[in-house]
Amino acid sequence: MHTPLIAPSILSADFACLGQDVQNVLDSGADIVHFDVMDNHYVPNLSFGPMICDALRKYGIRADIDVHLMVQPVDSMIQAFAKAGASMISFHPEATMHLDRSIQLIKDNGCKAGLALNPGTPLHVLDCVLEKLDYVLLMSVNPGFGGQSFIENTLTKITELKRIIDAKGLNTRIEVDGGIKIDNIKSVWEAGADMFVAGSAIFSSDNYADTIAAMKNQFK
Ligand code: DX5
Ligand code: ZN
Repeated sequence: MHTPLIAPSILSADFACLGQDVQNVLDSGADIVHFDVMDNHYVPNLSFGPMICDALRKYGIRADIDVHLMVQPVDSMIQAFAKAGASMISFHPEATMHLDRSIQLIKDNGCKAGLALNPGTPLHVLDCVLEKLDYVLLMSVNPGFGGQSFIENTLTKITELKRIIDAKGLNTRIEVDGGIKIDNIKSVWEAGADMFVAGSAIFSSDNYADTIAAMKNQFK
């Protein structure tokens, strides 16, 4: 059993004082930093790139930075983010011409490798690569925006993925991203997920520590 990790998505943070806001959320009990990279091409929104990751490292952020690439193509961004201080990098299979090569590129650059699956992407894209992945990111909203509602049938997908991982005797983590709140995180955990991305639920709350503690309190 993996320790459940809370990964605040800084897409909902205060960009005008990002370093301080990220430090605050880590001091409030967050485990890793989820970094949503959007290119206005693979997804219809634009966020931030490797310079901001580098700036957070220079500011003094020491926690793992979990880079979620919603960009096409992906390979040049893998190298740039690894150089900028990423610890983990995931991308979407539709966004690369060579799935296995992109996964290997993440590992060759010293980061943990994840594959991100949209709500409409079937689990069978994992068939030939699951053994190479450190984690699978299951999107529980369509990518591009924070603050959307959790798509309920993600729970069935998590359960099925967990079954496949266990049947193969793997140690792969399952990260779930989108619409996670205090009142649904338990069902996501019970289905088999162990990394929980939450943007609006944490950054829009009055007290980060209380919100993160309330989330962690559900893991029992
Ligand atoms: C969506 C992003 C998510 C999202 C999570 O494309 O990958 O990380 O911002 O935000 P909330 O928790 O607000 O749904
Ligand atoms: Zn994300």
